[in-house]
Amino acid sequence: PAVRSLIAGNWKMNGLKAASSELDAILEGAAQLSSGVDLLVCPPATLIAAFADRLAAHANSALPVAIGAQDCHTNAAGAHTGDISAEMLADAGARTIIVGHSERRADHAETDAIVRTKAQAVWRAGLVAIVCVGETQGERNAGHTLDVVAGQLAGSLPDGATAANLVVAYEPVWAIGTGMTPTAADVEEVHGFIRQTLTQRFNGEGERMRLLYGGSVKPSNASELMAVPHVNGALVGGASLKASDFLAIAAGC
Ligand code: G3H
Repeated sequence: PAVRSLIAGNWKMNGLKAASSELDAILEGAAQLSSGVDLLVCPPATLIAAFADRLAAHANSALPVAIGAQDCHTNAAGAHTGDISAEMLADAGARTIIVGHSERRADHAETDAIVRTKAQAVWRAGLVAIVCVGETQGERNAGHTLDVVAGQLAGSLPDGATAANLVVAYEPVWAIGTGMTPTAADVEEVHGFIRQTLTQRFNGEGERMRLLYGGSVKPSNASELMAVPHVNGALVGGASLKASDFLAIAAGC
């Protein structure tokens, strides 16, 4: 089935208030894009409310742009100093939340079980979850890529996933921020495997879920990567910080 593309920008821990000018440039450029692509901007939590307000105030209310978040706590509220719940992010104007990014898994010891509970928290707040999976260099070298991805999918995806509430992002850890990318054939192998796994578990919903590739996506390699079967968009880190690069990637879909 035809699946609309999604180009998601993960700003990670980058962006001060002045970066709202990049959002404005994205909003201006989004109006020129083909109708088959959606854009998602995930700034740091400090900017979500301001960005959502700016998007809502934009003259063109039909822009295919949404604001998202990069992580959430599992609980809705409570004594968790420094944490932010999915409900709070929804209240601030986020429509989607990334969970299980490899940087969260590595820096905060997030297990598949934690990621699964976070995805459920995203749904509890009525939002869409982007769940990230991907192998390390060592795992790839050892020939374990598909086993690792299978384990992450089985452990991180809750029952009840649909094409409307879940996006899966395949991000090989060794390709993140390194300038290295897998070959198109390697991406096709993993995305085909993810599609098959999702379809086995979620039936027709799995056929229509959006599968993003992430890891050193930039304007010069985007169209080749986006043309790979079962790649329905990208999760972009570094290149999403510059509106012109982000828009050029989206134009390559
Ligand atoms: O979430 C985004 C990814 O980690 C990719 O980051 O585009 O800087 O390699 P990158």
